[in-house]
Amino acid sequence: MRRALLAFAAVLPGLTFAADDARQPIVMPQEARAEMRAEMLDFQTALHQIIEALAAGRHAEAAEVAERTMGISAMGRHRNAPANARPGMFMPNEMHAIARGLHASASDFARTARTGETKKALEALATVTGACVACHRSYRIQ
Ligand code: HEC
Repeated sequence: MRRALLAFAAVLPGLTFAADDARQPIVMPQEARAEMRAEMLDFQTALHQIIEALAAGRHAEAAEVAERTMGISAMGRHRNAPANARPGMFMPNEMHAIARGLHASASDFARTARTGETKKALEALATVTGACVACHRSYRIQ
């Protein structure tokens, strides 16, 4: 029992509890929140497809998915939506910068993956997931 408690204590610093949530709340209209959450689900699906493709040695496919769904090519998804449905309008500058960083790093990943070098591709992919983590650790919308 004691040992189990110690093991639990050892992982504590890596966990986040609701009571000490230090993320900055971002206020957005319902429409913008819905758009953002839909985009997030697409990002997560894309990430899954990218990892699967990389593991199977299909580097070109991993590159294509990354560029199309998260890369520079995917910017401006909400450009023609009404203002209240454009999440970017409600993001503080730092948050927006992380979002732009995500798009740029996904395009970097696509270029690297096309070389066929798995280790370098994974390093580039970690910069992409780093952007997910950086934003999620800093901001919330609910
Ligand atoms: C610029 C900021 C930002 C970036 C970059 C970002 N996210 Fe998010 N994401 C958010 C915020 C804010 C939420 C909402 C958190 C909350 O519930 O308040 C969210 C929520 C989510 C959700 C939950 C969606 C739901 O249904 O509620 C998923 C899944 C997700 N993100 C995946 C990702 C993945 C994968 C990446 C990277 C490829 C990523 N996000 C990058 C800001 C970001």
